[in-house]
Amino acid sequence: MGSEASQPLTVELGDRSYPIHIRDGLLADRALLEATLKPLLRANQVAVITNPTVEALYGEALLSALPGRQVDVFSMPDGEAHKNLETYGAAMDFLMAHRHNRTTTIVALGGGVVGDLAGFVAATFQRGVDFVQVPTTLLAQVDSSVGGKTAVNHPAGKNMIGAFYQPRVVLIDTQTLTTLPPREYTAGLAEVVKYGVIADAEFFSWMEANAAALVARDPQILEHAIRTSCATKARVVAADEREASVRAILNFGHTFGHAIEKLTGYGAWLHGEAVSIGMVMAARFSHKLGLLDQGGPERIRDLLLSLGCPVALTQGLPASDMMDAMGMDKKATDGNIRFVVTPEIGSATLTANYADAALREVLDTFSQGQA
Ligand code: NAD
Ligand code: GLY
Repeated sequence: MGSEASQPLTVELGDRSYPIHIRDGLLADRALLEATLKPLLRANQVAVITNPTVEALYGEALLSALPGRQVDVFSMPDGEAHKNLETYGAAMDFLMAHRHNRTTTIVALGGGVVGDLAGFVAATFQRGVDFVQVPTTLLAQVDSSVGGKTAVNHPAGKNMIGAFYQPRVVLIDTQTLTTLPPREYTAGLAEVVKYGVIADAEFFSWMEANAAALVARDPQILEHAIRTSCATKARVVAADEREASVRAILNFGHTFGHAIEKLTGYGAWLHGEAVSIGMVMAARFSHKLGLLDQGGPERIRDLLLSLGCPVALTQGLPASDMMDAMGMDKKATDGNIRFVVTPEIGSATLTANYADAALREVLDTFSQGQA
């Protein structure tokens, strides 16, 4: 594990390719950070988009690596509720007021909320300016900062307004995870498990063997988990940037998870928590369709449990409500939406070939709070 530490990964997208640097203590290493950022900055201007929580922890370290530049900090209110057009408008007003121009660089310092909003600002300010991701949550480090999905929410739904817009670089300092609240950290671990299930059986086994160290946030173990997760995400995004096909496998467990989030009211379950329960459901569904063998759903559930992730609902959600929330008309005929399923741990595919009765059986089991 030690020798892989300094090598950046690359998201291969032709002339839009970019590196992902992963390092424990990157933000504290002013010289390295400055040397990494300097060649990326087109001109003198930098706009950092963050929130007060993250700014208080890591703002100074980032700013100290940008000496002699015009650096303006837009600190948006903390929370998913602020990933909206109002905050987007305020960020645009801020950039105009500080006279940023087309050569400015926008740096997102924070979790997925900050990253998604800052990315959309970068995609649209003066038709697009350079963008750097400095993700500080586990979810953002293994998922949202890589791949170029940017968005804000609309009252009609999450991420309804956005763009595909890739960053120039992703800078991951795993040490930032030491300050992350336990619930946020555990929710991020669910997305790490996802990569094992959909693409990497060996990594899945490695997580089983290192679950306690992952829970303890062991720096070396964590760095390996983040690196392996990012490598898979980079490979999938390079193969299908705009989700015409294979990128959809990154949504394993998400169809169920999104329905849980919607029905319980956004925020009751964190996204990663809902995805954790959703992955157990997706594994059971895969088994019901004759794909995943008997032991598969148990292994996935047991790993999630050993990492402290939720694997069952705490309140019943009727199967018919789940079907509705997943966009399935109660009266519709079989197989009308595509699900990501796993034929065996380490692989995933999409299927629309199933009977609604099979899906309903899985939903019925979970609606009674069983896993
Ligand atoms: P978040 O950004 O709300 O961060 C969670 C909390 O942790 C916040 O209160 C934040 O201030 C705090 N925080 C961040 N870093 C910290 C640190 N190092 N120490 C202490 N506190 C810290 O939540 P998230 O889970 O990172 O992101 C969720 C968002 O990501 C959602 O909006 C979701 O839609 C989006 N998302 C996007 C993609 C994508 O591909 N673009 C993928 C998955 C999720
Ligand atoms: N989080 C899923 C994706 O980036 O496609």
